[in-house]
Amino acid sequence: MEIDNLNKTNFTKIIDNQEVSLFNLTNKNGFICQITNFGARIVSFIIPVGTSGIDVVLGYDSIEEYQNDDYYLGVVAGRYANRIANGKFILDAKEYSLFVNNGPNTLHGGQKGFDKVVWNARPFLNENNEEALELSYLSIDGEEGFPGNLKVNVTYTLTNKNEIKIDYSAETDAKTVLNLTNHAYFNLKGAGEGTITSHDLSLNADYFTPTDAGAIPTGEIRSVSNTPMDFRIARKIGERINDDYVELIQGIGYDHNWVLNKESNALSHVATVSEASTGIQLNVFTTEPGVQFYSGNYLNIKKGKYAKSYPTRSGFCLETQHFPDSPNHEDFPSTVLNPNETYTQTTIYQFEVK
Ligand code: BGC
Repeated sequence: MEIDNLNKTNFTKIIDNQEVSLFNLTNKNGFICQITNFGARIVSFIIPVGTSGIDVVLGYDSIEEYQNDDYYLGVVAGRYANRIANGKFILDAKEYSLFVNNGPNTLHGGQKGFDKVVWNARPFLNENNEEALELSYLSIDGEEGFPGNLKVNVTYTLTNKNEIKIDYSAETDAKTVLNLTNHAYFNLKGAGEGTITSHDLSLNADYFTPTDAGAIPTGEIRSVSNTPMDFRIARKIGERINDDYVELIQGIGYDHNWVLNKESNALSHVATVSEASTGIQLNVFTTEPGVQFYSGNYLNIKKGKYAKSYPTRSGFCLETQHFPDSPNHEDFPSTVLNPNETYTQTTIYQFEVK
């Protein structure tokens, strides 16, 4: 099976004086999730199909390729997932300046975000005997320009319900902003097996946040009605992706935050993606108010795992999150974290084979 090709020694290395390794989680149904503590990244998710398996997560064969990755494959993005306009925000009348790494803006935490740091790793079995990996990281006051010493924990659990369950928590010693997400690219035909435009997608969202040409929300909350952004009823990702609609032209496809239909921050079902040719379906649940649906428009990876290539639109991300650039939009749900508060978020990617 394909997993044999991923050589664990290619993932073992000392980076920043810490040991980096590849961790395998398996469940009783034969599903496998591989994670590296470099960037808290999901490297593979292998679904047993017949006598073989389909790996639905895009990734690389070695840690060196992850060190050079510009696409945020499988990462935990932070401290602030997605963009902060001009790399600036104000908290209590003080302006903070971040490293700008995406045109004039800050993307996914700056120059060395959570995707490029080494996390402490602790594999364990949970109360249901399911395999889990707790990753923790201390982001020091001033790192990438963000205030506060921030302790972050991310626990990945591969459940017997064929879910990757991701539980995040964080605490700070000074007022700060925080927005964490996972940036795995999925392809339900199998990573490297063509584009994702044939997948059916539904999103439980009546509104989305339109952006300017630099992908920063304008502040408008727009109804999806009568637009190509309407996924309330499942339809193919590719059906309207090339429409003459300014949001899609700017993003070269979908790269937007949808405002999830939710009344509270309880865990709820927010998205479903399915691929008829393999029968694989992904159901997404989250406690977050938004999801960035990114159709992998900028992907251009010549050599991913098993020597396969990942061209444009060969993977999609459903990044459950608070809205991009919230620190600069008072009417968006707040991303402020105060000392003595605990940030939490839970997201579940659940797989079925029909
Ligand atoms: C962003 C895209 C960006 C990608 C980076 C997504 O979260 O919305 O604009 O290109 O991450 O790989």
